[in-house]
Amino acid sequence: MSGAHPLLSLKDIKVTFGGVRALKGVSFEVNPGEVHCLAGENGCGKSTLIKVITGVYKPEEGAEFLFDGKPIAAMTPTLAQSLGIQVIWQDLALFGEMSVAENIGFQLAVNGKYGLIDKRAIDAAAEKALARLGVNLDIHQPLKDLPIAQRQIVAIARALVGEARLVFMDEPTASLTQSETDYLIEIVRNLSASGVAVVFVSHRLAEVLEISDRMTVLRDGSLVGVYPVEGMTQSRVTELMTGRNFDNAVIATDHDDAPVVLSVRNLTRHGEFSDVSFDLKRGETLGITGLLGAGRTELALTLFGMRAAHSGEILLEGKAVSFGSNRDAIRAGIAYLSEDRLSLGLNQPQSIADNLVMASLDRILSGGLISPSRKAKVVSRWISELGVKIGTPDDPIRTLSGGNQQRVAIAKWLAISPKILILDAPTVGVDVGARAGIFEIVRKLAAEGLSIIVISDEAPEVYFNTDRVIHMAEGRFQAVYDPRQISLTELESAVYA
Ligand SMILES: Nc1ncnc2c1ncn2[C@@H]1O[C@H](COP(=O)(O)OP(=O)(O)OP(=O)(O)O)[C@@H](O)[C@H]1O
Ligand SMILES: [Mg+2]
Repeated sequence: MSGAHPLLSLKDIKVTFGGVRALKGVSFEVNPGEVHCLAGENGCGKSTLIKVITGVYKPEEGAEFLFDGKPIAAMTPTLAQSLGIQVIWQDLALFGEMSVAENIGFQLAVNGKYGLIDKRAIDAAAEKALARLGVNLDIHQPLKDLPIAQRQIVAIARALVGEARLVFMDEPTASLTQSETDYLIEIVRNLSASGVAVVFVSHRLAEVLEISDRMTVLRDGSLVGVYPVEGMTQSRVTELMTGRNFDNAVIATDHDDAPVVLSVRNLTRHGEFSDVSFDLKRGETLGITGLLGAGRTELALTLFGMRAAHSGEILLEGKAVSFGSNRDAIRAGIAYLSEDRLSLGLNQPQSIADNLVMASLDRILSGGLISPSRKAKVVSRWISELGVKIGTPDDPIRTLSGGNQQRVAIAKWLAISPKILILDAPTVGVDVGARAGIFEIVRKLAAEGLSIIVISDEAPEVYFNTDRVIHMAEGRFQAVYDPRQISLTELESAVYA
């Protein structure tokens, strides 16, 4: 092949779902070996474009599709694979019950390349792909036992089993911590250096600017433009994506006179966190930040009744509580939005409406049965309060874009009218505009008296959106910061040190 033409070239791609025009005539080009960012707000059509390129969806009449300079009349997933086009999907699309090796070598098994399923060939392919990433994993353990970050690695390894020439990564870093992200960026650079083109979708603009050579920006199903990344700034990208500008400002205020809602005293779970103490006041928003293994999620799960503390105390409005399960915690008015919404937070095949009322069923019962009119009322209230973009509430939740799914996950918890809302990585996979929207909601809820804990590994997120920031590392609270008395740079150097 020659470098004279793009590796992939698409023109006039149109896709419509029911009444939704997801792509309205988009062009897209990728050069051999480049790292290309596909950027745009939630629901602008990024994943849909990737699905067209990989033959999952067929574009409407009139599209032009060239790969390696040659026209492709009808792309299919099998053809895409044989051309070396690989995808790491937003939801990873892995199989929990299968082993790491089976997940990675899946295509070999399906293609029957080694006759009937040849376990040794699959193991060897898995070992090789992981070695190429410089990762050491027990390939025989079931995938469901791995943390998200390692599942991500498995998904990448699977993409490398075939002879990849073009790899799509749809939000690969969404559930990774800073150091894991740095590691993935390294992997992407290596792939690109070895001649593999990578198309990268991410809502973390800093990382997009660090990693990409060029970017294509989509807005509402249309092409905004194609830009070199050099000289590009985050605020310029934001403007291109949204047509608006977002200014960050510290919102921290004092809550000295407000009553304490939650008191945590010397809470300890061996090996996870120790000696954690803090008070959360009515209407206060508390940020907890720190790196992987800091114990933030473990602490949240303990507050939510899903794990038991070994020592220490939790007091709700002054009374010591002990939760046997998350049901007890929910009954006491604690809501927890999990960091892993795709597998834990939402039930993908179920409808938007069913997901939304999942935690608050007791509120919509009438004579022991679900009252359709109460359910519809709850659903329409929260869909409109959180500005969720949907077709109808009966559509399966998986038809929503990632950011809109996240809003439904938050709505599900707001529907129980909690006293305390714990948001664990609430903006993972959520675009800048929607992030601002989510924190506007957080501010509004706090002003109404809800006490909120925001857990995030993005220091700016807690810095600009909470009243106090706790830095957690190795299971302990290291320091508490008032965003009004410290600069963002100081906070970042403390947390990422
Ligand atoms: N299978 C489907 N059925 C109906 N509508 C769909 C389907 N897939 C996508 N859509 C709609 O098409 C539009 C584009 O969705 P897409 O998933 O491509 O967005 P995205 O840019 O990937 O967003 P995000 O950043 O949130 O992942 C959205 O309005 C979405 O709701
Ligand atoms: Mg998407």
